[in-house]
Amino acid sequence: MAKIVITGGGAPLDGSVRISGAKNAVLPILASTLLSDGPVIIGNVPHLNDVTTTMELLGQMGVQLVVDERMKIHVDPRSIHSFFAPYDLVKTMRASVLVLGPLLARYGEAVVSLPGGCAIGSRPVNLHIKGLAALGADIQVEGGYIRARAKRLKGAHIVLDIQTVTGTENIMMAAVLAKGTTTIENAAQEPEVVDLANCLNAMGADIEGAGSRTIVIHGVDRLAGCEYDVLPDRIETGTFLVAAAITRGRVKVKNTRPDILESVLLKLEEAGAEITCGDDWIECDMHGRRPRAVDITTAPYPAFPTDMQAQFSALNTIAEGVATITETVFENRFMHVHELRRLGADIRLEGNTAVTRGVDHLNAAPVMATDLRASASLVLAGLVAEGETVVDRIYHIDRGYDCIEEKLAQLGARIRRLPGTDQDELQAAQA
Ligand code: UD1
Repeated sequence: MAKIVITGGGAPLDGSVRISGAKNAVLPILASTLLSDGPVIIGNVPHLNDVTTTMELLGQMGVQLVVDERMKIHVDPRSIHSFFAPYDLVKTMRASVLVLGPLLARYGEAVVSLPGGCAIGSRPVNLHIKGLAALGADIQVEGGYIRARAKRLKGAHIVLDIQTVTGTENIMMAAVLAKGTTTIENAAQEPEVVDLANCLNAMGADIEGAGSRTIVIHGVDRLAGCEYDVLPDRIETGTFLVAAAITRGRVKVKNTRPDILESVLLKLEEAGAEITCGDDWIECDMHGRRPRAVDITTAPYPAFPTDMQAQFSALNTIAEGVATITETVFENRFMHVHELRRLGADIRLEGNTAVTRGVDHLNAAPVMATDLRASASLVLAGLVAEGETVVDRIYHIDRGYDCIEEKLAQLGARIRRLPGTDQDELQAAQA
């Protein structure tokens, strides 16, 4: 299986790096193309395994996809002949469930595998199903599949029990073609929800309030093609800023959006970083200082993102002082803690809180990635651990980070990839 090898304890990271398009925006945007009556061109697409999986899923349905020389994806949904998302693909990427709302709204039927649990928690989709049923869909869950049918969906008033990101997106995508007006209360406010709404509006949808707790969608009869560039990835941005902080370095991230990272930037300042921002760049400079440990509680946007929790857990391991990190979004998102301890971290788990006492240094060890953001935290810790840290199961990192080792190497990290065999890759895809 492919591995990443990092020789840690070297010079602080120094330089600049370009941020790719957001994974969590491009996946719903690709799914939303199913709603359109014409071709959609998507730009600023990150090079990620999750994007490839989504393209495979749409391709299996008969959708035509072409990547042009500018790396834009041209999606033409007009040749669709199947409304089926099989277990084999959904189990490798939960976000596949995002085709449910569009298929139902545009074609009146969808059969989508129920995503199972995953390494970070049980992650049900009950609120997606409840919301779509409120729009008038007839939904049965049997044999591990969600089977949904509808004539034309009808606008409804929906109050979400929990702010769910993909749940909000699925319901919003279904509602754009419904008859009448839909209101989603307690909607997720993540910037990726706003990006999806902007893309849908560019196709001719009528959505107001995305980014607030109440989204109002006036149904339209049809959507047309459009050209749309995906917003920058705030989690990739945050990960590179933490890479600067943990190595006491100075890194400028370019092609990003400081305005959607406020909670993360505040925590970096608390850790002792000097943060400077322009319109589309952020610089994190530690001036060679050791970071201070920071207390964090994760919560839906605009609070601190759960997708940055593992990276700050790594930062706290070598910071000055004691700090607590409380995870409130997912019930089991501390798998990386056990691996960080193998590098010498002093972390105690108390329920959904990790208490970390910063140590002077970490020592390299073989470690195993358990999920996407956990794998990023191990790479970050590897940058400062004395010796050679080998991170196994890095197929997790390839799901969500575009060329992470090339980008870190560009900043001076001593990092390389050991390729796996084809057989390994097959096993990884099936894991
Ligand atoms: C999305 C992101 C993921 C991020 C997460 C939280 C994508 C593709 N993925 O995942 O990177 O970590 O938001 O910011 O955008 N819940 C229910 N029932 C549901 C749906 C959710 O109980 O029907 C619960 C979940 O178990 C979780 C909480 O709601 O405890 C929030 O999850 P949700 O926002 O839905 O996460 P995802 O959309 O899967």
